Amino acid sequence: MSPRRAHKFRTAAGALTALAVVVLAPTAGAPAATAAPTVAAPDIPLANVKAHLAQLQSIATANGGNRAHGRPGYLASVNYIRGKLDAAGFTTTLQTFTSSGATGYNLIADWPGGDPNQVLMSGAHLDSVTAGPGINDNGSGSAGVLETALAVSRAGLQPTQHLRFGWWGAEELGMIGSKYYVNNLPATERARISGYLNFDMIASPNPGYFVYDDDPTLEGVLKDYFASIGVPTEIETEGDGRSDHAPFKNAGIPVGGIFTGAERAKTSAQATKWGGTAGQAFDRCYHASCDTSANINDTALDRNSDALAYAVWTLGTAVPVPPGPTFENATDVTIADNTTVTSPITVSGLTGNAPATLKVGVDIKHTWRGDLVIDLLAADGTAYRLKNSSGSDSADNVLATYTVNASSEPANGLWRLRVQDVASGDVGYIDSWKLTF
Ligand code: TRP
Ligand code: ZN
Ligand code: CA
Repeated sequence: MSPRRAHKFRTAAGALTALAVVVLAPTAGAPAATAAPTVAAPDIPLANVKAHLAQLQSIATANGGNRAHGRPGYLASVNYIRGKLDAAGFTTTLQTFTSSGATGYNLIADWPGGDPNQVLMSGAHLDSVTAGPGINDNGSGSAGVLETALAVSRAGLQPTQHLRFGWWGAEELGMIGSKYYVNNLPATERARISGYLNFDMIASPNPGYFVYDDDPTLEGVLKDYFASIGVPTEIETEGDGRSDHAPFKNAGIPVGGIFTGAERAKTSAQATKWGGTAGQAFDRCYHASCDTSANINDTALDRNSDALAYAVWTLGTAVPVPPGPTFENATDVTIADNTTVTSPITVSGLTGNAPATLKVGVDIKHTWRGDLVIDLLAADGTAYRLKNSSGSDSADNVLATYTVNASSEPANGLWRLRVQDVASGDVGYIDSWKLTF
């Protein structure tokens, strides 16, 4: 036996007077939910997104052929988008900064309401390069984010999270606008952003369907959408850190996004699964004068705009799942040295199997918890290991909630908590334990 630290022995006897079995009835009318309910997302009208792109093209044409930082086509683009948002009831803010001797602008739009401590942000860079009008890069993301925001307004959405949308300036000069935004957010505001979703190039003419693999929740929601329409996706690898999610990620904010590809060539395997042309760039007009209204794949624009809206609705309107029915046994069970004990809970009144997220709440008083091996036993004797012993974990007590995938066990029946004390010198008792379905 390993040497033991000196400790004060504490008896459990005092607690042994509480002998009543307390089995709580299931919470009335609360079925075990499996997913957070959300408000169904709308289908974003492709024609509306394309109408915004036509406006951005006209703005470029009227302003020397581009919408670049420091050029008049950029501010005209900001004014177009801001006008739509103001008319739809958003609170808009223009943030100015200076880069390469010119004033730059970030446009921020807040949808009133939602939890101010949970801000879900979606954004796109609005500037083009000087070489062309930048309709895929990044009129596409800008228009998709705009139309999603307008759809929020049309729906009169009352989200659980606070929704914010951003259009960044001077991305093409090195993410200047988004860096400026993140760096100038007070730390308390930064901590309130639950996630940032980025949309930079979402309608490449020879499209791929790439999802950023950063935050698993944001990635999962976007992938869920593509799975629901039967479109395979790949992890985005064309350049992590090459767009406006990077400053957010660097500040510790969860990020995600989608992308249809830039200068890299589509492989034959990708052409087989997505269609399009193998051996050709996803966007042959990337950063070129031909990135015009003609440089847009409508199917990709439609799917990605819908994915964007799905993510905003799903993440922004999810309400926490109420706890399911709970059964508890608060009868103390003494754990003598080097013994195995069990404590029962009989569950009745439920239907079907236990959930994949059965919660097992354990409250054990013990003078050296490393002595303890703890399992949940199903009615048929199947053991689900909750905790192993440890020669080095000298702390007192086990007060923990474990999640068990018990979906192959009937919910009703006899469940037991089994506690094995596997080392000498320390003892305790099961104070209470409970199952939440
Ligand atoms: N505007 C980006 C850039 O010029 C486009 C881009 C390339 C991109 N690779 C990316 C955007 C990967 C998102 C993710 O760098
Ligand atoms: Zn871009
Ligand atoms: Ca012991």
